[in-house]
Amino acid sequence: MLRMVVCVSGGGTNLGAIFEAMDKGIIRDAEICEVISNNKNAYALTRAAERNVSAKCVSPKDFENREAFNEALLKEIDSVNPDLVVLAGFLVNVPEIIIRKYKNRIINIHPSLIPSFCGKGYYGLKVHEGVLARGVKVTGATVHFVDEGIDTGKILCQKAVYVEDGDTPEVLQRRVMEQAEWQILPEIIGKIARKEIKIGDQ
Ligand code: GAR
Repeated sequence: MLRMVVCVSGGGTNLGAIFEAMDKGIIRDAEICEVISNNKNAYALTRAAERNVSAKCVSPKDFENREAFNEALLKEIDSVNPDLVVLAGFLVNVPEIIIRKYKNRIINIHPSLIPSFCGKGYYGLKVHEGVLARGVKVTGATVHFVDEGIDTGKILCQKAVYVEDGDTPEVLQRRVMEQAEWQILPEIIGKIARKEIKIGDQ
């Protein structure tokens, strides 16, 4: 059984897609042991509670400095002893102490085709604003391992999505979620659970 922690910040539609994939058997032999949010108002926490999954908030606002927050986040993850940490819309830079300890055990979903529209400042809706401002015609989503850089880890899967005339950032965001993110994130977790993708020491 693959033990997962899912880290979130907002609406949690990707978390919802993981739950659905577990219901449908796309992901088997895996459990979400805990959902952690940096934002106490994240709807993702409600989604977790509805599924009777432990839902915790670890917010930088509750700590004196970043180091104390980083340590608390590490402690919370450690308390679950997960095989895999899934960043599903987690809009916090994961501290190095966590990345080192969970090397090749943290995956992230990013709403563009890396290496385009990624890195510092590109998160959430800002990614889609950037895509529309540049006028590219194809975008998409990427699932990758998390390393010390921002969106620089090994790419595990990508799916392309067309930009359409008249798109707003919100409309494009929704299409990228529906056509790419909600498919490839659960698919990759399913492959990890089936050991078709190796995690940890490689
Ligand atoms: C998703 O589009 C996800 O790819 C993005 O935030 C959104 C969260 O939505 N993540 C990033 O931008 C990470 N750099 P959700 O809370 O509904 O899953």
